[in-house]
Amino acid sequence: MERVYLDHAATTPPDPRVLEAMWPVFSRDWGNPSSIYLEGQTAHRWLDEARARCARLLGGDPGEIIFTSGGTESDNAAIRGAALAQRERGRGDHIVTSQVEHHAVLHTVEQLEREGFRATYLPVDSDGCVDLAALEEAVGPGTTVLTLMAANNEVGTLQPVAEAAALAKARNPDIVVHTDAVQAAGSIDITPEALGVDLLSLASHKLYGVKGAGLLYVRRGTPWQPQMLGGSQERERRAGTENVAGAFGLAAAMELAWNERDERVAHYRRLRDRLLFELPELVPDTVVTGPVDPDRRLPNNFSCCFRNVEGESVLLGLDMVEVAASSGSACTTGSLEPSHVLTAMGIDDDLAHASLRLTVGKGNTDEQIDYVLEQLPEIVERLRSLAPGQPS
Ligand SMILES: Cc1ncc(COP(=O)(O)O)c(C=O)c1O
Repeated sequence: MERVYLDHAATTPPDPRVLEAMWPVFSRDWGNPSSIYLEGQTAHRWLDEARARCARLLGGDPGEIIFTSGGTESDNAAIRGAALAQRERGRGDHIVTSQVEHHAVLHTVEQLEREGFRATYLPVDSDGCVDLAALEEAVGPGTTVLTLMAANNEVGTLQPVAEAAALAKARNPDIVVHTDAVQAAGSIDITPEALGVDLLSLASHKLYGVKGAGLLYVRRGTPWQPQMLGGSQERERRAGTENVAGAFGLAAAMELAWNERDERVAHYRRLRDRLLFELPELVPDTVVTGPVDPDRRLPNNFSCCFRNVEGESVLLGLDMVEVAASSGSACTTGSLEPSHVLTAMGIDDDLAHASLRLTVGKGNTDEQIDYVLEQLPEIVERLRSLAPGQPS
């Protein structure tokens, strides 16, 4: 069997069409876009075009797009930039987020707490969905930033970002709302208008683009200040020579994702639903994590925990039969701490250590899913038979 890649939430294989679109920038038009001579201006035109395309796809204007190095940088810049700008305007120092955000968000908010800000981490229900009543209660006159992810990277839960944004703005019209749309892009409508947000983070490598490229959308007029200082690139909002090929690749990847969204989503859904509904039938004591309702989770995400088995061993067992999978988020792999997302959902530590995430992509096939559905029950059964306390 050829390798079966089922970890598209960690990163996606670059689409050859994206690489082809980027190639002229790497090979021919490699000038520094800040230079005034021909080579620089040529590179600048690529950047302008990338910006115009990204803006069009997001329903904004080019001045609202800041190219970054990816999701982590966009999240850091969004939250810090808004919290500091709001504080400077004397509006307050309270940030609201959820307990299930990516660490790029959580660690940024925690750092801001160390710098004197206050934070509320909203609880979620057993599906990983944020508690809107708790949100309404948390937002007050001194709340300056709400950051809520569009979809969870571990269990795929779609968050009610539009409702949350509307509730927060009704409570405090000055609040800045950010969403981390890194996982949701390409699967649902993540335009800032649809979500009602002021700031939005995207990463190219989750969209069949390349690593090291992303964007931060900043709605015109949003209180926000730059976090990367130095040169005057990106209209003085993000210093540093731009990754021109990366930005152009991001625009190409977004364009393909937007144009092909319906067919990609239908394909993901078909394969993912087989995992969601067939796997629990084949492996006893499988606990699906995240919503069982396929409409309430990302179309390409399946996640579960297996009782009485170590998650890491399942991953190694899968790798040995040529299947790439994850225990949850790439960032917690290798960590002995149970996932903060599963813990927030009320899953006990033992079960949380036995988590598996399978995220399908546009290159996966039915035959590959057949293969996984054949291999996985055997792997889990073998591991359980070896576990201490189990009859051999
Ligand atoms: C929801 C979410 N936000 C942010 C990130 C970080 O993105 P990047 O790897 O581009 O820094 C990830 C990556 O897994 C993610 O899933």
